[in-house]
Amino acid sequence: MLAVLGAAWALLAAAFLAALLLLLLLLRRRAPAVRPGGGGVSGLFQDLIRYGKTKRGCGQRPAWLSLLQVPKRWFTHFYVVSVLWNGFLLIWLFQAEFLRGSLPSWIQHMHRALGRDSQSEDAGNEHFSALLVLLLLWLHSCRRLVECLWTSVFSNGVIHIVQYCFGLGYYIAVGSTVLCQVPTNVRNGKVVSLSHSVPFGDWFERVSCPHYFAELLIYVSMAITLGFHNVTWWCVVMYVLFNQALAAVLSHEFYQKNFSSYPKHRKAFIPFVF
Ligand SMILES: NC(=O)c1ccc[n+]([C@@H]2O[C@H](COP(=O)([O-])OP(=O)(O)OC[C@H]3O[C@@H](n4cnc5c(N)ncnc54)[C@H](OP(=O)(O)O)[C@@H]3O)[C@@H](O)[C@H]2O)c1
Repeated sequence: MLAVLGAAWALLAAAFLAALLLLLLLLRRRAPAVRPGGGGVSGLFQDLIRYGKTKRGCGQRPAWLSLLQVPKRWFTHFYVVSVLWNGFLLIWLFQAEFLRGSLPSWIQHMHRALGRDSQSEDAGNEHFSALLVLLLLWLHSCRRLVECLWTSVFSNGVIHIVQYCFGLGYYIAVGSTVLCQVPTNVRNGKVVSLSHSVPFGDWFERVSCPHYFAELLIYVSMAITLGFHNVTWWCVVMYVLFNQALAAVLSHEFYQKNFSSYPKHRKAFIPFVF
């Protein structure tokens, strides 16, 4: 049954891969019917995949669509939820690992439902790996929360309510997935401008979105920490790969469209590759 969890992540990865391929196809054709802000199914598709700066220039959109969007600065809520939820999971797992406490009954039910084998030969190592990954995830969320509160300067960008709800659920799902791998036994700088300019320096010289690439590397490093063989976590990595690739392609397209002198050699997401 643990395969169900892996299948759910694989499905999510496949959905984002499909969205990425569709977007690349549409961008290649430059089909007028799929311009952001267009009506019908293609308009809805664009509305669901774009957010923040890549949603700009979406033209005249029906008023009811605006009711379904929330400020992008609400990204902060994702990390509040993540710090709290994954913090709780971390404390529970720490108690179970080092203080001989037991995991809450609902986690044990979840494990049973997922058919996790409590007699795993390598249970000690698996416990420790999961604890380490959960700690990394929690630290990552803390860093992102601090960034959102004191470093990021959000303009008036928006995200669709579906993306917002997805983001809230995402960090709950990702922490819970780590736990299911366990056997049971600066806004202090000066704001120069709120507009989006061409980023440069360091990894930005190679790709448009090095922060998305770094996000992917974080999840790959967690996969290595959990052991290369953990198929469920590789499905999570696949999801992050396609999700961030989609956002990177949109961002890359935004820069190319808005800045005629945008460096031609810059890739979107993975240096020298894509
Ligand atoms: N694991 C996942 O599923 C997942 C999903 C989404 C995001 N993330 C992570 O969350 C983090 C933030 O993602 P994001 O999509 O919000 O990144 P983003 O669109 O690049 O925005 C990050 C910050 O930089 C600003 N910004 C973006 N482009 C700019 C430019 N050209 N000039 C000046 N300022 C600019 C944004 O302002 P505006 O908001 O005003 O544009 C925002 O304050 C990333 O590290 C990403 O990897 C993870």
